[in-house]
Amino acid sequence: MTTANFPPLQNDLLLRAARGEATERAPVWVMRQAGRYLPEFRKVRESHEFFEVCRTPDLATKITLQPVQRYPRLLDAAIIFSDILVIPQAMGMEVQMNPGPYFPDPLVTPEDVKKLSPVVDVQKELKYVFNAITQTRIELNGEVPLIGFCGAPWTLFAYMIEGGGSKTLQKAKTWLFKYPEESKALLLRIADVCVDFLVGQVRAGAQLLQVFDSWAGELSPYDFSTFSFPTLVHISTNVRSRLAAENLPSVPMTLFAKGANYALGLLAEKAGYDVLGIDWCIDPVEARRLVGDKVALQGNMDPSVLYGGRDAIEAAVKRMCEGFHAGKGGWIANLGHGITPGVDPEDLRWFFECVHKYSFHCVHV
Ligand code: CP3
Repeated sequence: MTTANFPPLQNDLLLRAARGEATERAPVWVMRQAGRYLPEFRKVRESHEFFEVCRTPDLATKITLQPVQRYPRLLDAAIIFSDILVIPQAMGMEVQMNPGPYFPDPLVTPEDVKKLSPVVDVQKELKYVFNAITQTRIELNGEVPLIGFCGAPWTLFAYMIEGGGSKTLQKAKTWLFKYPEESKALLLRIADVCVDFLVGQVRAGAQLLQVFDSWAGELSPYDFSTFSFPTLVHISTNVRSRLAAENLPSVPMTLFAKGANYALGLLAEKAGYDVLGIDWCIDPVEARRLVGDKVALQGNMDPSVLYGGRDAIEAAVKRMCEGFHAGKGGWIANLGHGITPGVDPEDLRWFFECVHKYSFHCVHV
């Protein structure tokens, strides 16, 4: 099966909004929509380790489809079930999930970069993701588009050095400020793997690509523009030119630089993405003012509102819709970060229903 003969797409709201086009209502999906809040997800995880699921296309496909099947006609996208940490694995690092990410042998000093594979054959190392994407694209049967993704170099660099999650990112920041040149070299090396990985995902059938820079907000504006921003530009520029050179579809690209609301103007102007994801720490009207009509926006309800019950969800969605409708440009409704465990799946259904109800006049002419 090649990209050309996948089942035809029946719902292109996401792709149209991503390109800044008018849509009859806002498309909606949520980050981590195939995750621990779903009992059917937890059931699969009882008998399979996290990375085993990622590496087994049948399981990754099954889990990717779970929210699409649970919320028919309410959800406008699927996102392939995988993790941002498959890139450090492909570069030769061991990563466990217990229950958060854990690297037994993180990069301590620039000397340790030698331990990474000198050349990464992404087509081979991450073939399992490509196979899962192709299988999911077939099984989706054109119901909604499939999103591919990767972690941004700065966020991956931080995990590879910290060896897991961290409150202060002390070790990763020590690298930036003590070894700036070595840091930039490693960041670019990761960026090159991201490019191969994203292009491979489109070749396999992904219809939109999202780059997650989850730790962008930990950097000062100056350090973001020095260390992260150039790698994000490297990715958008090279993915687009490679897609064109290989005659692959020129899919929209989304950047979610969490917490980097200070950089929205710069990102809209110069990063080369079609969509910018925003967290809940910025008002939609202010975000739109900062980006102008250059990009579509994605977001941004605080995921914790989903713990607040139906009235709280409805009020927050209504406010969010009013905020995003106030300006021109495409809008993709989402949370401001991933959905968290413990949310009642029926409350997420209500979130989707409220988006359908309050965003119906999302037409900008
Ligand atoms: O969004 C989706 O539904 C697609 C799948 C997806 C997962 N991780 C599955 C997952 C995506 C897009 C990610 C991205 C990811 N992974 C990010 C960027 C987005 C963000 O949240 O900032 C990051 C930082 C990671 C690294 C990671 N993976 C962490 C920190 C954790 C543990 C903590 C947590 O939030 O759950 C994971 C594990 C993980 N990745 C789970 C899922 C569903 C839960 C683990 C489990 O099944 O036990």
